[in-house]
Amino acid sequence: MKKIAVLGTGYVGLVTGTCFADSGNQVTCCDINQLKINELIKGIIPIYEPGLEELVQKNVRKGTLKFSANISQEIQDAEVIFIAVGTPMTSSGKADLTYVKQVAQSIGENLNGYKVIVTKSTVPVGTGRLIESVISEYSTGKHPFDVVSNPEFLREGTAIKDTMNMERAVIGATSEKAFQIIAEIHQPFTTNIVNASLETAEIIKYAANAFLATKISFINDIANICERVGADVTKVSQGIGLDSRIGNKFLQAGVGFGGSCFPKDTAALLHIAEDCQYDFKLIKAVIDTNEGQRVQLVNKLSHALGSLKGKTISVLGLAFKPDTDDVRSSPALDIIPYLTMQGAIVKAYDPIAIVEAKKQIGYECTYSEDIYETIHHSDACMILTDWQDVKTLDLSLVKKLMNQPLMVDGRNLFDLEVMKELGFTYLSVGRPAIHAESSISRTL
Ligand code: UDX
Repeated sequence: MKKIAVLGTGYVGLVTGTCFADSGNQVTCCDINQLKINELIKGIIPIYEPGLEELVQKNVRKGTLKFSANISQEIQDAEVIFIAVGTPMTSSGKADLTYVKQVAQSIGENLNGYKVIVTKSTVPVGTGRLIESVISEYSTGKHPFDVVSNPEFLREGTAIKDTMNMERAVIGATSEKAFQIIAEIHQPFTTNIVNASLETAEIIKYAANAFLATKISFINDIANICERVGADVTKVSQGIGLDSRIGNKFLQAGVGFGGSCFPKDTAALLHIAEDCQYDFKLIKAVIDTNEGQRVQLVNKLSHALGSLKGKTISVLGLAFKPDTDDVRSSPALDIIPYLTMQGAIVKAYDPIAIVEAKKQIGYECTYSEDIYETIHHSDACMILTDWQDVKTLDLSLVKKLMNQPLMVDGRNLFDLEVMKELGFTYLSVGRPAIHAESSISRTL
């Protein structure tokens, strides 16, 4: 059992802190935001993550988890300190390390004995060494410490499961002692430990996210070719995914990736490459293809309708993926303002992300948590998130409710034959277009 302080109560900090508490450590999750800490003490979780609230409450009751805004005190009391503060993307695409440097300074000022300082935040290569030098600068120099890079691979929506059953832990430590301490903390979750240098561990995180993003952009490029040659990308994914060297995951073509990690980390990796004078052409193409997917989906809609002016479009899904209320880099954030700019009237549906979406999109569109009310009287329906209730839509009812049966599907949710039989014009990604010409009032 270790005394752990986790600095930062975002997705990564809250989930990992809670899981470490659940496996028997004494954990304090800290944040400078006193209001957030007050809410957490009352059991109110600031993010939507299935299972997290119950696990937090269980461990608070057990006495293994607490919350505090007294960061100096918690740093002094802890043996191991996890840095899980945000590293937002700057306008140039670089990772902003302001919060990381601030907590490193606090750690230096409060260093009162040997401690292991671990970065969970996704940080550019060299940040571990920077943290080391900031801590040295602000500490008395009397107490030794080690810095470790221990990147996080959890996904939003399945974060607890991903942490409790992690496929591997990557530990980049500056000493064997620190490596053993962090390996011991991870022992209940995995036996696959990658022992790397600080710099190697830092690059592993970017390489993992960039590789997954590459798989998505690759299959989206194949989808775009499929559309031109009359092939079906979902069968291509199946056909290549059964090859165990390729694997069947992250091969779903669609509107492209969003979220807090892939767009930010691919952009940051490009900067890391530029900083060491390497022309990383592949990652540039991954980013370009991803941005193009959103444009292509909108083009399909515009082409089918002729003009968007005065047309009512129902948009299904604001979150960047199901089971989260996170809208960061979500396709809806680009697509809805574009549609309204072209004169369309947009009605948006999402089961949980409306509050977050309103902060970004504002009142350019109307919002509803009722999927059929959203679809009612629309001239076209656009699917952006593969929520379970979008996947299980009553399509006959959808057809009756719409002004005309036009669906543009950015997630390839429905069977082409079924859509054809129902009489929809159905435009998906990388699959043959289904046209119900007679029922669509083109103004071309
Ligand atoms: C990702 C990584 O998976 C995780 O390991 C890392 O720690 C953080 O970034 P997350 O952003 O939560 O996790 O979501 P993920 O499930 O990976 O999906 C990312 C985006 O890719 C979503 O927009 C999703 O819709 C899209 N995606 C995913 C596809 O378009 N096609 C796919 O086949 C898979």
